[in-house]
Amino acid sequence: MNIQGKSLYHEIHARSLADPQGFWAEAATEIDWIEPPKTIFDASQGVYGRWFTGGVVNTCYNALDRHVERGRADQVALIHDSPLTNSVTKFTYAALLAEVQALAAIMRDFGVAKGDRVILYMPMVPEAVVAMLACARIGAVHSVVFGGFAAKELATRIDDAQPKLILSASCGIEPGRIVQYKPLLDEAIRLAGSKPKACIVLQRPQLICNLTPGRDYDWASLRRKAMNDGKKAPCVPVAATDPLYILYTSGTTGIPKGVVRDNGGHLVALKWSMFNLYGIKPGEVWWCGSDIGWVVGHSYIIYGPLLQGATSIMYEGKPVGTPDAGAFWRVISEHKAVALFTAPTAFRAIRKEDPDGKFIRQYDLSKFRTLFLAGERADPPTVEWAEQQLKVPVIDHWWQTETGWCIAGNPVGLGMLPVKHGSPTVPMPGYQVDVVDEAAKPVGPNTMGSIVIKLPMPPGCLPTLWNQDERFKEAYLTEFPGYYKTSDAGYKDEDGYVFVMGRTDDIINVAGHRLSTGGMEEILASHPDVAECAVLGVKDAIKGEVPCGFLVLKAGVKRPPAEIEKEIIALVRDKLGPVAAFKLAITVGRLPKTRSGKILRGTIKKIADGESWAMPATIEDPKVLDEIGEALKGRV
Ligand code: COA
Ligand code: AMP
Repeated sequence: MNIQGKSLYHEIHARSLADPQGFWAEAATEIDWIEPPKTIFDASQGVYGRWFTGGVVNTCYNALDRHVERGRADQVALIHDSPLTNSVTKFTYAALLAEVQALAAIMRDFGVAKGDRVILYMPMVPEAVVAMLACARIGAVHSVVFGGFAAKELATRIDDAQPKLILSASCGIEPGRIVQYKPLLDEAIRLAGSKPKACIVLQRPQLICNLTPGRDYDWASLRRKAMNDGKKAPCVPVAATDPLYILYTSGTTGIPKGVVRDNGGHLVALKWSMFNLYGIKPGEVWWCGSDIGWVVGHSYIIYGPLLQGATSIMYEGKPVGTPDAGAFWRVISEHKAVALFTAPTAFRAIRKEDPDGKFIRQYDLSKFRTLFLAGERADPPTVEWAEQQLKVPVIDHWWQTETGWCIAGNPVGLGMLPVKHGSPTVPMPGYQVDVVDEAAKPVGPNTMGSIVIKLPMPPGCLPTLWNQDERFKEAYLTEFPGYYKTSDAGYKDEDGYVFVMGRTDDIINVAGHRLSTGGMEEILASHPDVAECAVLGVKDAIKGEVPCGFLVLKAGVKRPPAEIEKEIIALVRDKLGPVAAFKLAITVGRLPKTRSGKILRGTIKKIADGESWAMPATIEDPKVLDEIGEALKGRV
C-alpha cells in the first residue's frame, strides 16, 4: 500500500462526471488553440457526440513549436537508445522541430495535404517519431503498422486507409536477426488494391535495400536536400475533430478495426494525464518501453511526453538479452528516468533471468520514482516482485487502443490511492465505469459482469472507426445501450476499484500484444488439409498467453500430422507475422462441441491450462474431451 497524504482523486473524478463541460474546458486551457472550441461537448455531432467542436489546433505545434518558443529549445526532447545498434542519439526540441519541419515539407512536395493518409511501416528509429509529427504538422493522418506484422496485414491496412504515401525502412533489428522490411513492403503493395503514389525508404546501415525506380525515394537524400534548401513546412490548422491518426487493432474477425483519434480530445486528455496520472513535470525524463506500432507507443513515447515538455526515451531493444536482464536498469540510470511504463510480460521475462534482482543493484536508480504497467492484467506475483526489488510504487493501469489513454489507474499526480494487487485501481476523470449483466443492468460490488463505459466517452477516446460508423455502433454501442462495451469482463469492489479479469470476445493478449484468435482461425482454415480448427490462448509463464491451434484434418489426408502442423505454424508467421508467436499446432481427431455445434473453446482452454473444469451439460460427446487431454500431453 502506498498512501501519500490525501488524494484529490475522488473530488476530481466526481466533478468530471457532474460537470464534464466545465472539467474538460479547464483541462483544455493547457493547450494552445488557434481558435478555441465553440462547444466543449456537442452531443449532436458524430456517432455519440464530439469534443471541442469549433476548435482549431495543431498537434505538432503543441508538441514541439511552443516549447521551442518558450525556452525549451535546447532541452532534450527525445533520447533514442538502441542496444541493438549500440547507439544513443539525442534530439533537442529545436533539433526535433527542424527534422519535422523538413520532412513535413518533403511530404507536402509529394502532394500530401490535410486529411491525406500516410502509412508508416517502421522499426523503432527516431525517424518514425519525426514522421508521425510531420504528418500532424501538415494535417495528414498517420497510420503506423507494427513491424512484426506480415505483408498481408500491411496490405489490409493499405486498402482500408488508402495512403498517398508510405514511409518505411530497409530493416528492423531483432536480437540475432535482421528483419528485411522491403520484401514485405513490396509484397503488401502488390497485394493491395490501393497503390500509394510513392514510398520514402530509410536505408539503415545494417541492411541496404534496392529501391523500386519511380516509386521509392531515399529518405536521407530527400532530407539532405530539404535541409540544404532550408525547406520548412508550417503547421496547418486543423479542426479539433479532424483525425490525427488511424491505428488498426484486432477485431473479432481477421479484418482489423481502424481506430480513429481526433486532434483536440487527444491533446487535452494526454496533456492532462502526464502530471495528474503519471506525475511527470516538464523537463523530467520519462520512459515508455513500448513500440511506436502500438497505442501505448503513440500516446506515451511520442505525444504525451512531448506535449508536457518532458524528455522521452525511445528504446530499441528487449528487457532481456540486449545484452542481459539489466538492460532496463541501465537505461533508467544512464538517462536518469523518473518513471517507466511497460508491460507486465517484460517484468516476467526479467524476473525469470534475474530472480534475485542482482542486476538491479548494479545501477543507480535514485531518480526512479514509479513503475507503470499496462497492456495485460498485471498478475499480483509479478507486481509484488517488482515492488520488492525496485522499492517504488508499481502501478497497474487499464486501457485499450480504442480509448487512447487510461480508463482505470492510480493517479500519482492527484495523490495515489492505496494499491490493491490485481486491480488497476479506479476510473480516470470522464470515465463512468460500470459492471453490468446481460440486460445492461449494473450489478453489485464484487459481482462479475461486462465492463462498460457510460457514454459519452471522455476526450481522447475514439469517436468512430475509420469509414465505418455502422461497424463502430455494432461492435461497441449496440449490446449495452447508452454504454461503450469494452469487451473486458470483471468486477468492481466495494471501494469502487476495478478488477479486469479477461476478454469476453476472441481477443487474446500475447506478451502485451493484442491478437484475434478468429483471425488466426481464418489462416488455419485456409490450409488445404484442414477440415476444421480452433485457436485459443493458453497460459504462458512469460507472455501471459500464447495461441494454440487445434486442427482436424480432412478425411483422406495421408501426410504425417507433424508435417502439416509445421506448415500451419509457417503459414501463420507468413500471413499474420512473427508477433503472433504462433508455435503450437496440435492435430486432433475431432473438436468438442455443444449439441448445437458450437466449439467448446472455454473447456479446451481449461484442460490445456491444467485448470479444473466441469463437463458442459450441452456437450455432444463427452469422450472428445479425453481425446483433447491426450493430444495435449507433452505439448503445452
Ligand atoms: N519486427 C519484426 N519482428 C518482430 C518485431 C518487430 N518490430 N517485434 C517482435 N518481432 C518478432 C520477434 O522477433 C519474435 O520472433 P521469433 O518468433 O522469431 O522469436 C516474435 O515477433 C515475438 O516477439 P515478442 O512478442 O517481442 O517476443 P520475444 O520472445 O522476442 O520477447 C518479451 C518476449 C516478453 C521480452 C517481449 O515480448 C517484450 O518485451 N514485451 C513487452 C511488450 C510491450 O511492451 N508491449 C506493448 C504494450 S504496453
Ligand atoms: P490494446 O488495445 O492492445 O491496448 O489491448 C487492450 C486490452 O488489453 C484490454 O481490453 C484488456 O483486455 C487488456 N488490458 C490492457 N491493460 C490491462 C490491465 N491493466 N489489466 C487487465 N487487462 C488489460
